[in-house]
Amino acid sequence: MTRVFSGVQPTGEGPHIGNYIGAFRRWVELQDTQDECFYCVVDLHAMTVPWEPESLAEGVRRTAATLIATGIDPERSVLFVQSDVPEHTELAWILICLSRMGELGRMTQFKDKSRGGEAESIGAGLFVYPSLMAADVLTYRADRVPVGDDQRQHLELMRDLAIRFNRKFGETFPVPEAVIGRQGARIMSLDDPTEKMSKSSGRPASAIGMLDDLPSVRKKIARAVTDSGSTVAYGPEHPAVSNLLDILAAVTGESTPELVARLEGQGYARLKADLADAVVAVLEPFQTRYAELIGDPAMLDKVLDEGADKARAVAGPTMALVRERVGLRSGVLR
Ligand code: TRP
Repeated sequence: MTRVFSGVQPTGEGPHIGNYIGAFRRWVELQDTQDECFYCVVDLHAMTVPWEPESLAEGVRRTAATLIATGIDPERSVLFVQSDVPEHTELAWILICLSRMGELGRMTQFKDKSRGGEAESIGAGLFVYPSLMAADVLTYRADRVPVGDDQRQHLELMRDLAIRFNRKFGETFPVPEAVIGRQGARIMSLDDPTEKMSKSSGRPASAIGMLDDLPSVRKKIARAVTDSGSTVAYGPEHPAVSNLLDILAAVTGESTPELVARLEGQGYARLKADLADAVVAVLEPFQTRYAELIGDPAMLDKVLDEGADKARAVAGPTMALVRERVGLRSGVLR
């Protein structure tokens, strides 16, 4: 039996098409091929940078609604919010104690975020972020973790922590395996194909938001930068057009060679028109479903409460075992 676990931070900006292609769409596919999937909105990770209470709560609801609207089925997957399951923080503390200053300090994400003038005043949560992430997965003793390429190093640390725990305290956790997206899962900006698509770029034309109104989606695609020349071709010499082809391939399920064969010699206008139609065909039903979910907070809460119950049913026994193994009293659990 394989168990999948993945997490997503609630974001204020809302997800873009790159998040959908690189993550959520794959999560949906895994529901069909794996035995059990746990998908978690990691609100505690969002506290590693300064936050506002209302926007955190709002971000959690929006992210949960997004996941359901893209096709995560709360009947088949366990969809829940990290802070609803206290075992995550409890195991995180133990894993923080097993993590080494050196290995945490080597994480490139930490180094990037802690650079600059304010390095002295950033929160310590950013430093132990990967230990909490390890706790997320190990709490469920999951075997497979679909993540983006930027999480590779965190996954390595997670594996090291699982191995370290098992050596010292006895075989407790499977060593989780990263499932990194295939090439093409890395979607670049529409206005700069050398930069990853992101909503925090400050340039609205660079990312297609999942909740952008459809006419403006068409406009952004029509205005996307292309390469010099006019041939539809795929490869490193054609970064802008390759990115458009990657998005089209991802949303239609066609391969890039198939698309090139079909669109070659037709100019960029055809490619962009096809891309706009294909993206709108994905966004339209998504947005309808999303609006229903966000418009019914009681229903959304009920779904998340049920998810938390299912998650706790797995997390509780893991923590009981961990407490015993590491030498903590388990009085309250008896
Ligand atoms: N750090 C991950 C990211 O930024 C999110 C995350 C938190 C996660 N806990 C996780 C991903 C556990 C996979 C498994 O994308």
